[in-house]
Amino acid sequence: MGNILVEHLCKIYNPGQENEVRALDDVNFTLNEGEFVVILGPSGAGKSTLLNILGGMDNASSGSYMVGGKDVAKFKERELTSFRRKDIGFVFQFYNLIPNLTAIENVHLAAAVADQPLNAADVMDSVGLSKRVHNFPSQLSGGEQQRTAIARAIVKNPEVLLCDEPTGALDSKTGAEILSLLYRLCKDYKKTVIMVTHNSQIALMAERLIRLSDGKIASDEVNPSPLKPEDITW
Ligand SMILES: Nc1ncnc2c1ncn2[C@@H]1O[C@H](COP(=O)(O)OP(=O)(O)O)[C@@H](O)[C@H]1O
Ligand SMILES: [Mg+2]
Repeated sequence: MGNILVEHLCKIYNPGQENEVRALDDVNFTLNEGEFVVILGPSGAGKSTLLNILGGMDNASSGSYMVGGKDVAKFKERELTSFRRKDIGFVFQFYNLIPNLTAIENVHLAAAVADQPLNAADVMDSVGLSKRVHNFPSQLSGGEQQRTAIARAIVKNPEVLLCDEPTGALDSKTGAEILSLLYRLCKDYKKTVIMVTHNSQIALMAERLIRLSDGKIASDEVNPSPLKPEDITW
């Protein structure tokens, strides 16, 4: 599918009104396939707005977002739906599992809308949950729920895995385990992972670090010596 190219991306909420917010203001970057990318910025910087646009869940106001030679920013609803189903895996801060489906049923549900899904049991195994597949979310710890949510994202075999503060609801030790898992999946499955965080310690594991501030790119660097996720504490 290739690289991700974002050019002059802008998002304005409530344009022309007195409560207008310029959430993304001329954002430009290029990401390489298979890279572990961290987008770091304080609350309100525009991180979730950016991730939602990258995931096809929201429209940009202007600019382009090229993936595999196609401009997602120009997609109509039908193409966006297909893009969300096939090409994007999304991991949220609060897991967002369906409470009355078991762990593996949550994963099956995502597999059912994908084009070429992976085997759900294999993916549950690779996130370390082969013994918990028949538990409901309420019977799982926070870390296990997030592993299930990651399995649900990966089973679709998406090109890109987008993670919005995936450790934000977890304690530091469990969070570090989730970061290790995301890093391993990035490499094992050769996925581009884009993870958003406000935590500068977590950002130390980035292969590529993009700082976002007030809707603008403040810096964009390749990290010559990323920390191992297991060596990060916060
Ligand atoms: N749906 C919306 N309508 C209006 N303003 C919004 C909306 N979503 C986000 N914003 C504003 O856009 C800015 C960026 O928000 P967000 O992308 O959520 O930042 P972050 O994820 O970095 O905390 C904030 O000022 C926020 O209040
Ligand atoms: Mg956010």
